[in-house]
Amino acid sequence: MPGEELCKNGGAAIIGRKLLALSEVDSTNTYLKRIALNGAPEGTVVVAEQQTAGRGRLNRSFQSPKGKGLYLSALLKPTLPPERLLSLTPLAGVAACCAIERICGVRPGIKWPNDLILQDRKLAGILTELVQADDGSFCVVLGIGVNMSQTLQDFSPDVAEIATSLLLCLGREISREILVSTLLEELDHAYRALIRDDLRDYLDIYRRDCVNLGKRVQLMYADGAREAAEALGIDEEFGLVVRTDNDSLKTVREGEVSVRGLYGYLE
Ligand code: BTN
Repeated sequence: MPGEELCKNGGAAIIGRKLLALSEVDSTNTYLKRIALNGAPEGTVVVAEQQTAGRGRLNRSFQSPKGKGLYLSALLKPTLPPERLLSLTPLAGVAACCAIERICGVRPGIKWPNDLILQDRKLAGILTELVQADDGSFCVVLGIGVNMSQTLQDFSPDVAEIATSLLLCLGREISREILVSTLLEELDHAYRALIRDDLRDYLDIYRRDCVNLGKRVQLMYADGAREAAEALGIDEEFGLVVRTDNDSLKTVREGEVSVRGLYGYLE
């Protein structure tokens, strides 16, 4: 593919063993799914300057203008029971917060399950997808998009109401290369913790960083139903524990439900 450059990220890391840099792609997740089916090894990472069909959770699009954001996907082949894979996305959220804090000196919060929030607006999102090969084996594509250099005019009007970028928050540009390499280190660290089943520190950090806890939320179910609740805590599998307004305690999981504030994105 034109503009493609293959290089190696040295060291013993799993994530980022192979790094593929593209100038333009439909979606780094879609691209990685395609090459996963052709045998790309675990740890392959794709970054792109621009995505023409960037995707978010719940079939939403993810605006990915040229040179304005970090658009990255990593291929994982964990030999873990499916229930342990549920932790992957929140772990990636914590990893992204750590990377941004290391580079930018500010730590985003996390809107459950996995939007990164800075100055009460969405800075980054994570999309994790399962890919099944013909032989029944499966792998995971973990995609992260961080708004880096957008001004408000770079977002569509609906997104401009809730989104922000590192430039808007910090008033200065951040190097994408440095953010990519720091993010890969943090993702690798988190992935190793998942493999070792050693998530205690990540759970503590996630609970500390989650911006919903103690607040009123609106649960939005896949079938369109909505329910008001108070967010009480995060369980051991990163599920959100809530008390609904009809006083029942329940734990909701990524995939079943998304949350909003009662009156808007956060509040
Ligand atoms: C969300 O906000 O709902 C998730 C957004 C995930 C965006 C990233 S950008 C890199 C990767 N490729 C995609 O098409 N999506 C993810």
